[in-house]
Amino acid sequence: MLNRMTRLAATALVFLLLTLVTSVNSGNWHVGPSLNCADCHLQHSSEDAQPVSGGPFSTLLLKNTVNELCLSCHDGSDPAAPDVLNPVGMYSGESPGESAAGFLDGIGLLNARGHDLAVSAATPLSTFSSARDLHCGHCHNVHGNANYRNLLADPAESGDTIIIEEGIQVFTQVRPDVPPAISASIAAYSRSNVGYKENLTQWCVSCHDRLATNLSASAEAHFMAHPSDVALNSGGLDAHADAQHWVAGTGEGFPSASNPGEGIHRLPHLSPTATDHASATTAAETDRVFCMSCHKAHGGAYQSSLLWPNEEGGSNFIAGCQQCHNQ
Ligand code: HEC
Ligand code: HEC
Ligand code: HEC
Ligand code: HEC
Ligand code: HEC
Ligand code: HEC
Repeated sequence: MLNRMTRLAATALVFLLLTLVTSVNSGNWHVGPSLNCADCHLQHSSEDAQPVSGGPFSTLLLKNTVNELCLSCHDGSDPAAPDVLNPVGMYSGESPGESAAGFLDGIGLLNARGHDLAVSAATPLSTFSSARDLHCGHCHNVHGNANYRNLLADPAESGDTIIIEEGIQVFTQVRPDVPPAISASIAAYSRSNVGYKENLTQWCVSCHDRLATNLSASAEAHFMAHPSDVALNSGGLDAHADAQHWVAGTGEGFPSASNPGEGIHRLPHLSPTATDHASATTAAETDRVFCMSCHKAHGGAYQSSLLWPNEEGGSNFIAGCQQCHNQ
């Protein structure tokens, strides 16, 4: 009896350790033991004794293209898989009602509100601007890696090694369940569950490399493009940003109790001294603006993937700018 208990305990411990090893400092799913080959590959292009229509596909994939394959689960049809295809309803019960990355449009559609999938397009703000037809595997490692959300360490294939590990460069409060569960996925992929510390700007500028440095302009302006990775309180006497307004979180740009619909949820930001989710999401004067303060990584409701209707107009058209600048 004791022997059996010991064995059980040992098995439980090994399981726990495996779970810990795979959940700390790595993507949460499609990685290590959670990389289930059959999710994406089919050995003989035959299912339930029937040949798969249109198959067999290259590298024994279940679908003809990477986008079709990934979206076969990530289009909202699998309620435990984070939905990344417009329209997305799964976060409607969370605040602010969207995921961290936002959403993409269908395959082959031109999308003015985010990254296009499988549309041959030059990379804007890039010096090597060759046309590419974006698919999920240009940004995510399809077989998983040590990065947050399995993000590629070298998305532009230019020799970068960009480390974005969970618990180090990015902090989340809730991890998705392994195996997946609907409510855990909703909580884990919700925008409010993520706080950022560093290296995200480097990741975006691996492809959009013209923004790799904050090129300075001649006086009186300081920069030739909106700076990234610069602190709210870095301006000194000549400051353009209003760090105290940002920390207070009320007034211009922020939601107003007396005026529902006015203002927007506090924008994402880098917290250079963060050690956990709480410190990464608590506002401080040393917070830094970065690409994802203004843009959703996949795309969203507004032109240029922006987090507020900068080009559409309406009462919130400068809400994002005002949170930091309060002009
Ligand atoms: C069979 C269904 C299925 C397919 C096919 C699939 N996924 Fe997923 N994916 C899931 C589920 C379910 C989760 C959530 C896992 C969890 O909650 O633990 C997930 C999670 C993810 C995550 C988040 C991982 C993390 O570490 O937080 C990424 C990124 C992702 N998938 C990308 C992809 C890409 C890219 C493809 C295509 C190459 C793909 N998925 C194909 C079901 C699928
Ligand atoms: C989430 C989806 C997904 C899962 C799960 C997955 N693969 Fe793949 N795999 C892909 C995609 C997509 C490609 C094609 C990559 C390309 O063409 O860019 C691929 C390609 C491959 C290739 C050929 C090219 C290469 O990259 O080496 C092998 C071999 C392979 N997979 C093995 C596996 C094995 C073994 C497993 C399980 C341990 C697995 N895959 C699980 C999506 C997946
Ligand atoms: C241009 C790069 C890029 C492309 C293309 C891309 N992703 Fe992402 N994806 C990201 C980034 C960056 C994040 C993390 C954003 C964050 O957490 O702030 C992310 C997050 C995710 C997540 C976590 C859930 C969420 O909404 O935050 C899933 C799942 C995912 N991507 C799947 C996919 C699938 C499936 C495709 C293809 C249909 C795809 N991605 C295409 C960059 C990309
Ligand atoms: C998340 C915070 C944040 C957001 C959002 C933001 N900014 Fe900034 N902005 C900064 C910081 C930080 C600086 C650099 C510090 C400084 O100049 O005080 C800056 C600098 C500037 C500058 C001065 C550039 C120079 O040459 O010195 C201008 C102009 C500017 N921002 C305009 C905007 C506009 C317009 C928007 C909205 C489309 C916007 N900002 C949104 C934080 C932000
Ligand atoms: C302060 C807000 C802000 C920040 C920070 C910011 N952007 Fe933008 N970005 C915008 C706005 C607004 C537009 C659209 C209108 C414009 O260009 O003024 C835009 C447009 C773009 C475009 C489209 C350009 C085109 O020619 O179509 C790309 C690509 C882009 N940004 C990438 C990035 C990357 C990468 C970063 C981080 C290095 C970044 N942005 C940081 C506000 C911002
Ligand atoms: C693998 C290369 C790659 C990476 C990494 C990448 N992009 Fe892009 N991006 C592109 C390409 C290609 C386009 C042009 C086609 C399109 O719109 O999808 C583009 C277009 C854009 C646009 C203009 C699209 C629009 O809404 O009109 C913005 C904004 C943008 N990217 C921001 C970002 C941000 C922010 C990140 C980091 C989270 C990022 N990109 C990471 C390749 C990339």
